[in-house]
Amino acid sequence: MKTIVITGSTSGIGKALTQYFAKDNRVFAGYRNENYVSDLEKLGVTPFYINMTDPESIKLAAAFIKSQTDKIDTLINVAGCVVAGAMESISPERIREQFQINTFSHLDFSQRLWDLLDGGRVINISSMASFGVFPFIAPYCTSKRALDMLFNSMMLETKHNIKVISVKPGVIATPLWEKSISGNKESIENSQGFEKEMNFMVKNARKNQIHGLDVSKVVDLIAEINEVDNPKASYTIGPDAKAASILSRLPQDWINFLIKKGAKFKIK
Ligand SMILES: NC(=O)c1ccc[n+]([C@@H]2O[C@H](COP(=O)([O-])OP(=O)(O)OC[C@H]3O[C@@H](n4cnc5c(N)ncnc54)[C@H](OP(=O)(O)O)[C@@H]3O)[C@@H](O)[C@H]2O)c1
Repeated sequence: MKTIVITGSTSGIGKALTQYFAKDNRVFAGYRNENYVSDLEKLGVTPFYINMTDPESIKLAAAFIKSQTDKIDTLINVAGCVVAGAMESISPERIREQFQINTFSHLDFSQRLWDLLDGGRVINISSMASFGVFPFIAPYCTSKRALDMLFNSMMLETKHNIKVISVKPGVIATPLWEKSISGNKESIENSQGFEKEMNFMVKNARKNQIHGLDVSKVVDLIAEINEVDNPKASYTIGPDAKAASILSRLPQDWINFLIKKGAKFKIK
């Protein structure tokens, strides 16, 4: 039986991971919405409150876990959201919020639990977005890239024996996509000059929510990563993530050319 800490346990990837690991492990499951607590308790896991936008709650969440255990085998940083919009008009506050939720909160939480992770592993749910800056979701892409780079350095520098693994899924069918429409309502509605692009993004998000890969693909890979002796530093999931990985190795001008061509073809 391992001790596993998961954030974002109430939906999509985090929920599926929590359900999977709850069967044979001691699981601490992070939530921000109290309505989910009883569902988590029914799984036999220990729920803990954490709001990634609130540093005090991150501090209290880490203190709670430390009061319950002195060893964590695996920390899975899952909680996240998508901030989208045209870079010409998106506010720096929205970009800061994106980095707070997808990057800084995970760093803060992991630093506070670092000593307990000696001999263990940290699995970050990054994204294929980490491979490059796709237009209109630059805040999301850069927050994931920064997550990967900061944690990779943390692993290189540490005197502890801790493995950090970045998992980069392509499109997975989860509520993230519908939430990305409601969460970016303002950018979508005030996108003067980019109406076509925003309409495309909304349509695409709805399509992704239905046609994305099944969340079980992520669970299967993470279950494997959790068991193998020498996990790699980075994994992709899905053909789209593999394609993004290959594309990212081209010179930036070529990438820009291909992205512009693709956008012209798709956005009418
Ligand atoms: N779905 C994809 O195609 C895809 C692809 C690549 C990477 N990812 C990454 O996978 C991770 C999980 O996404 P998902 O697809 O499973 O989306 P999801 O279904 O929306 O789940 C996101 C989880 O994060 C929690 N969360 C969001 N903001 C939070 C905050 N401020 N404080 C605390 N918890 C917060 C959510 O809580 P609530 O339930 O309260 O909303 C939920 O539990 C994210 O980091 C995402 O970037 C997803």
